[in-house]
Amino acid sequence: EKAGYKHFMQKEIFEQPRAIVDTLRSVLDVNREVLRFSDLNLDASLVHKLRKVFLVACGTSYHACLVGKYLLEGLCRIPVEVDLASEFRYRKPLLDDQSLLIVVSQSGETADTRAALKEGLERGAHCRAIVNVVGSSLARMAHGVLYTHAGPEIGVASTKAFTTQVVAFYLLALHWARTSGTISDPEFSEHLRELLALPRKLEEVLDRADVLRDWAREFLKVEHFLYLGRGILYPIALEGALKLKEISYIHAEGYAAGEMKHGPIALIDENMPVVVLAQKGELYEKMLSNVQEVRARGGRVLAIVEGEQDPRLGESTWQFPVPETSPWLAPVVFSIPLQLLAYHVADLRGTDVDQPRNLAKSVTVE
Ligand code: F6R
Repeated sequence: EKAGYKHFMQKEIFEQPRAIVDTLRSVLDVNREVLRFSDLNLDASLVHKLRKVFLVACGTSYHACLVGKYLLEGLCRIPVEVDLASEFRYRKPLLDDQSLLIVVSQSGETADTRAALKEGLERGAHCRAIVNVVGSSLARMAHGVLYTHAGPEIGVASTKAFTTQVVAFYLLALHWARTSGTISDPEFSEHLRELLALPRKLEEVLDRADVLRDWAREFLKVEHFLYLGRGILYPIALEGALKLKEISYIHAEGYAAGEMKHGPIALIDENMPVVVLAQKGELYEKMLSNVQEVRARGGRVLAIVEGEQDPRLGESTWQFPVPETSPWLAPVVFSIPLQLLAYHVADLRGTDVDQPRNLAKSVTVE
């Protein structure tokens, strides 16, 4: 059932283009350029009358919510708060019938996320769930569901569930932005074109997976990794670090690159590789100076770079180019090399990739 792959995680990484196509197809009528969320049970016009949207989840699904905030605020201009489910439920959140709570989960069974949703239901909020498992607890409890169509995810480390969650948020953001007029019809069509081009771009990255296995070989003995991202890729730095630590047991931290000089720069030396997510665009120059700061302190930089390799990243910097995409979809494209890097480091270290120690696929206790 691993279809020739060594691990489920590896198979699931390679299934992402298909998972994304299925998620798109479930809502998009390509010919008419309309998005239909049949199980969501939410009138788009209601969304713009609400005071606030709350996105709540655990672990990797929480990272998808952080990306979701960029998408919903950026495209729809509605205020969004993101919380960890285990914190949200205890902070007496200011939820009422003017709020929309969206919980996000692969399994649909995570205990803290269930408790957060219960909180929302009791306080009279509009409650929806983005879930992968059909008929799961969260899907049944919420007032409506947006299903990701990742298919069964067996590896404990979440991969295809994450990228389809991001796509689900993008689809919601586009729909709400179009209905409220924060994006024009031609802009909407352009966004759809970018989305439809995404699976092919992911294939391109997956075709070069061996490069990341070569990278991984160099770092089997290190004890710490730092991941730096900015803007919409900041959550991807967090997610990249989580992937590495949970399956390879190497300590890793994700940081907003601009925060580096407020603390973590003290850690940098030749023994701590720094993975940099170099998205082209307005924050690119800032990222180049972060790279300089790391290199000046003897740090090794591994750059995931959008488009062509760039000599300005430094001769000693290893560069893995990924296809250019719309800034809103960069989180999906950049996730793939980070998943592959974590996977190969773990596999080469000989850990139990699909069943890492101390972890469960679905955390049904608090
Ligand atoms: C990380 C991972 C966990 C889950 C978290 C939430 O790879 O798998 O962090 O993301 O336990 O699980 P779901 O999404 O099922 O609620």
